[in-house]
Amino acid sequence: MPNFDLVFREARILENGADTTADVAVQGGRIVAIRPCVAGTSRIDVACAGRWLLPGAVDMHVHLRDPGLTHKEDIASGTKAAVMGGVTTVCDMPNTLPPTISLATLRAKADRAREVAQCDIRFFVALGKDNIGDIATCIGEPSFAGVKVFLGATTGELLTETGILERAIDALPVLFVFHAEDESVLLRNRGIAGPTPDVTSHHKIRPAQAAVEGARRIAALARPGMRLHVCHLSAADELRVLEETPGLTCEVAPHHLWFTADDAVPAGNLLKVNPPIRVESDRTALRSALADGAIAAVATDHAPHTLAEKSQPYLIAPSGVPGLDTMVPSTLMLVQQGCLSMARAVDALSTAPARILGLADRGLIAEGLRADMYLWNPSSTWTVKKKDLATRCGWSPFENIKLAGRPDGVWILGRRVA
Ligand code: DOR
Ligand code: ZN
Ligand code: ZN
Repeated sequence: MPNFDLVFREARILENGADTTADVAVQGGRIVAIRPCVAGTSRIDVACAGRWLLPGAVDMHVHLRDPGLTHKEDIASGTKAAVMGGVTTVCDMPNTLPPTISLATLRAKADRAREVAQCDIRFFVALGKDNIGDIATCIGEPSFAGVKVFLGATTGELLTETGILERAIDALPVLFVFHAEDESVLLRNRGIAGPTPDVTSHHKIRPAQAAVEGARRIAALARPGMRLHVCHLSAADELRVLEETPGLTCEVAPHHLWFTADDAVPAGNLLKVNPPIRVESDRTALRSALADGAIAAVATDHAPHTLAEKSQPYLIAPSGVPGLDTMVPSTLMLVQQGCLSMARAVDALSTAPARILGLADRGLIAEGLRADMYLWNPSSTWTVKKKDLATRCGWSPFENIKLAGRPDGVWILGRRVA
């Protein structure tokens, strides 16, 4: 009888942030030994030979469109894109049809996921008009990730009403994640671009001020012990508000780390996204905040829409870009380019989001944790092509851009999935 199910031999791993070579043994879906040389036999040996063995990425912000909008994506296709790209846990957002606003809608998604999901998946429930009691009944469900709050209107009709938020935060001891563009600023700026706005005005109609006001509202609510998290930071000024508020966590999306308004205008509606792609000084500030840890996590805000939907006129075309196929390769490209240390990249992709979500069983290569991991060759590259993508929407804002290579192999609970 072999002692292990799987042993990765001579893998490059991060041990307390340090670059180390070790054997990593897996048994029963868990990592059971990490040593310079693991003695004993295994059913499967993987010779790593200089490649990194990294903890599976945890994407805490995806829109899988299932149920109701499955022509854009569904749980099967979205989680396939995840695993192909090294993502082993995703958290789905509630703006589906019907929206996730109750225990019944949460359980319906979890039941579907049990049948078709390729990776582990959790679901955020939206705080709506008056569903605090409904959300309370979701606490304790294994698939419940936390509460999603929309401070400003974006894709879908979900908007959290004033007064409800304060009551919810008092009543529910859970993680709250915010789409933090402030609705009053959005309404004030509606007419700013004249009667026929086009994509060049998107970042003026939804200015950085909206994100700053949203961040201020959240900062004003923060108290010790609360779990408040700001989604998709997009502006340098937003960072300043958050830096002054200990205890808040935040994430940045790859499209805000990679693109500026100069890219967004020629891309037409493809880079129309909320919050918008902003200017170079914002991108630079976001990159350095990710590098120094002020921004804890990378999350995609994977928001697939079809090319047909995106090619409608500006005012009708939906906002959002897909990102699951490319999150890990784009972030590791920042390492290859010298913008980010390997330790910060792995922390932002895996360790920090697992910690924010309260998932203590993942996010690191460590004994006792889930064997969710991927193997990555640090000298590999991938120039993104449509044909390589698994997302149902079939396109990526990173097409024809050279990223780091995709994983050579991906394992969830010790089972090879890609
Ligand atoms: O651009 C966006 N698209 N921002 C959001 O907040 C929602 C998302 C979507 O669901 O399409
Ligand atoms: Zn959002
Ligand atoms: Zn989103």
